[in-house]
Amino acid sequence: MNDQQRDIVVAIDGPAASGKSSTAKAVAASLGYRHLDSGAFYRAVTLAALDRGIPPEQWDALSAADLHAFEINAEPADTGFALSIGGEAVGDRIRSLEVNAQVARMAALPPVRAWLLDALRAAGRGGGLVADGRDIGTVVFPEAELKIFLICEPEERARRRLLQQGRREPDAAEVRAEASRLVERDRIDESRAVAPLRQADDAVILDTTPLSFDEQVRAIATLAAERAGA
Ligand code: CDP
Repeated sequence: MNDQQRDIVVAIDGPAASGKSSTAKAVAASLGYRHLDSGAFYRAVTLAALDRGIPPEQWDALSAADLHAFEINAEPADTGFALSIGGEAVGDRIRSLEVNAQVARMAALPPVRAWLLDALRAAGRGGGLVADGRDIGTVVFPEAELKIFLICEPEERARRRLLQQGRREPDAAEVRAEASRLVERDRIDESRAVAPLRQADDAVILDTTPLSFDEQVRAIATLAAERAGA
């Protein structure tokens, strides 16, 4: 990076399985920035509540003190942030089917969002960041220098998510079932009262349906390099 450039914040938002996290991670690597996966924070809160045996019907009674007691911590790591619960790395358990099914319910709760907003902003202090989620460009980092809203056809998102989960080329029925789960999660995320999923007015919309992964990463990294120029 030359002297004419500054560290900026890149916000990537979009619906479920639109490729935000993997794209954000690759864009961050190409810029030498840190990646902040905000969905992982919502997933960690959901996993902590499930592990403690708190039934989802009781989650709307969770207070900031209850959330604090979950002992969720985010430490800057080489290329991103290491999340732990009670001192233990969260690992892949935050991507389980049960967390997938319950996370949007948890993420709709105002005390949970308020609590994580502080944690996410603290993690992002100082710039040089690519953050992805649902409300990054609208609420978490409204001053981000570059905002991207990724969109993609539900069936293509479903196909990619199933492949990411290690399935071989999924059949049409599997794709349809996964697409309907993704659309249902989007419906909850778009209709909640606090910080719903929506594109920021100044976001660049990128439809990734016809793009390869490398093409979408390159498109965003190029825009980011332009915005980082003096
Ligand atoms: O990777 P995928 O798109 O499946 O989901 P994610 O980015 O890991 O986010 C999981 C869930 O967390 C979303 O469905 C939202 O309910 C919630 N979330 C949110 O409300 N706000 C964010 N900034 C990020 C995630």
